[in-house]
Amino acid sequence: MNKRFTIGKFPRTRLRRNRQFPWSRNLISESNLSVNDLILPLFVTEGKKTIENISSLPSIKRYSIDTILTKIEEVKDLKIPAIAIFPHIEKRLKTFDGKEALNKNNLICRAIKEIKKNFPDIGLICDVALDPYTNHGHDGILKKNYIANDETIEVLSEQAIIQAEAGADIIAPSDMMDGRIGVIRDRLDNEGFNNTIILSYAAKFASNFYGPFRDAVGSSKTLGKTDKKTYQMDYKNSDEAIREVSMDINEGADIVMIKPALPYLDVITKIKEKFNIPIFAYQVSGEFSMLKFSGEKKIIDYEKCLYESLIAIKRSGASAIFCYGAIDIAKNLKNE
Ligand code: PBG
Repeated sequence: MNKRFTIGKFPRTRLRRNRQFPWSRNLISESNLSVNDLILPLFVTEGKKTIENISSLPSIKRYSIDTILTKIEEVKDLKIPAIAIFPHIEKRLKTFDGKEALNKNNLICRAIKEIKKNFPDIGLICDVALDPYTNHGHDGILKKNYIANDETIEVLSEQAIIQAEAGADIIAPSDMMDGRIGVIRDRLDNEGFNNTIILSYAAKFASNFYGPFRDAVGSSKTLGKTDKKTYQMDYKNSDEAIREVSMDINEGADIVMIKPALPYLDVITKIKEKFNIPIFAYQVSGEFSMLKFSGEKKIIDYEKCLYESLIAIKRSGASAIFCYGAIDIAKNLKNE
């Protein structure tokens, strides 16, 4: 008897059938990455014709306003839909109350105006938090060694207004104060910015993966040995992330952020199953640097591992990803 007719010996279902060819794998793929899923974070600094390296964040630079415009040309050519900008504030402007954040002519507002003037069709996301501006590196107003929630919200809502006024399309509070989304929404609406989108860093964990970012904005030194555990979430929790997100949705968030990304895929999935709201994920500086440095040491293939990590983040339920490697990935997607 022909072996092929043996019953029960081999499985009828062979999941490998669909995996045989590149085309069949492409047809059955459940998740995909396109350039439309990418947001490039950029660091802006004072000066002219300035491009500075950040040693803990390989290949990522700080740009003065004139050179950032050249960089954004690349973003435009690759059709990356949006950028997120973060300021590196001069040391002399950092104060205990972070009041430079409210200066309408500060670095970030000048950058917003210049970028929007030159690239009106690229989405511009702007962080709302005080850490680049305070001399203690915290995101809010420090009182008796504790970040004062309600006083901080008053300042942040003012910061949101001046950034919206300068032209930011998306206001992204990353501070983790309770109740700030509602206050910022009300203030934006009352002051004529009812179309400004709020991307709430709703589930932001007190992560150890933010180190290189803090070097980039100059808050590692100011923060020193202290941490942000009294306001950012404890990474032991995910039910609490649901409470955070549900609160921010009720207060008027348009999009929610989960951050970091790869170590928190379970949180992304949980939020995706629970709520009908777009989810962005932030592949943070530490996640990126690990990939890039390992790639440089030839331990892994940087581009392939970056792609795989971004697919994983999409598979978990994110609709877009903040990614320091957005340009590298977009170039490859274009060539595919
Ligand atoms: C600060 C802020 C941080 C990041 C984005 N906004 C750092 C922090 O909370 O200390 C981290 C991003 C990254 O690591 O890439 N409000």
